[in-house]
Amino acid sequence: MKIFIDTANVDEIKKLTGLGIIDGATTNPTLLSKEIARQYPDYSSFSKSKILEESKKILFEICELVKGPVSAEVIATDSDGMVKEAEELSKIHENIVIKIPFTPEGLKTTKILSSKGIRVNMTLVFSPSQALLSAKAGAAFVSPFTGRLDDISHWGMDIIRVVVDIYNNYGFDTEVLVASCRHPLHVVESALAGADIITVPPGVLEKLLKHPLTDIGLERFISDWKKVFGE
Ligand code: E4P
Repeated sequence: MKIFIDTANVDEIKKLTGLGIIDGATTNPTLLSKEIARQYPDYSSFSKSKILEESKKILFEICELVKGPVSAEVIATDSDGMVKEAEELSKIHENIVIKIPFTPEGLKTTKILSSKGIRVNMTLVFSPSQALLSAKAGAAFVSPFTGRLDDISHWGMDIIRVVVDIYNNYGFDTEVLVASCRHPLHVVESALAGADIITVPPGVLEKLLKHPLTDIGLERFISDWKKVFGE
């Protein structure tokens, strides 16, 4: 299973790519706006074109750091607007993947973009039928939001298992990208379900690195060695 990093925070990405296990990144308007606000405390004086220019710079930097697919989301909600934005975003870097929301306009846009060879990550997917239609429209990735389903008392992971089965039944190439990951068990369950990718926020990735028994065990090994052989 590939692991993407779910953030636009360039400093966090720099730190975590050093581990050598990050295969890509996902951003969304929430994450990107937070990063602009973090990097530029005076952002409120920025013009629309300046905001666009800075978001492109951040996305380019992320692409250079992760060296794998980086999802950048459109803001437009009509198909013509989405296509225009997608074409602009695609120019940033060859690793840019366009995130399109699952709406009738989004579906139409996905078909248009995928026929032009632009890879789409269909986002805001909450049901197996949405995932099926995304694959039919030619999405390269589909992002079911597991944590947000958990938030409303639905079994978020159920949709992952069902979508993996559906895609296997028909041999769709669309990769299942588990989004809205909230804790380490989402990672384990995604791997059990056979998801292609999970996108993990930095806080969850840090939790995956830690085990108290590893820390205690390491401390004991080192101190036992030193007891016999000294410092
Ligand atoms: C990534 O592609 C999604 O936008 C992200 O995982 C959503 O996560 P959230 O539900 O925690 O906002």
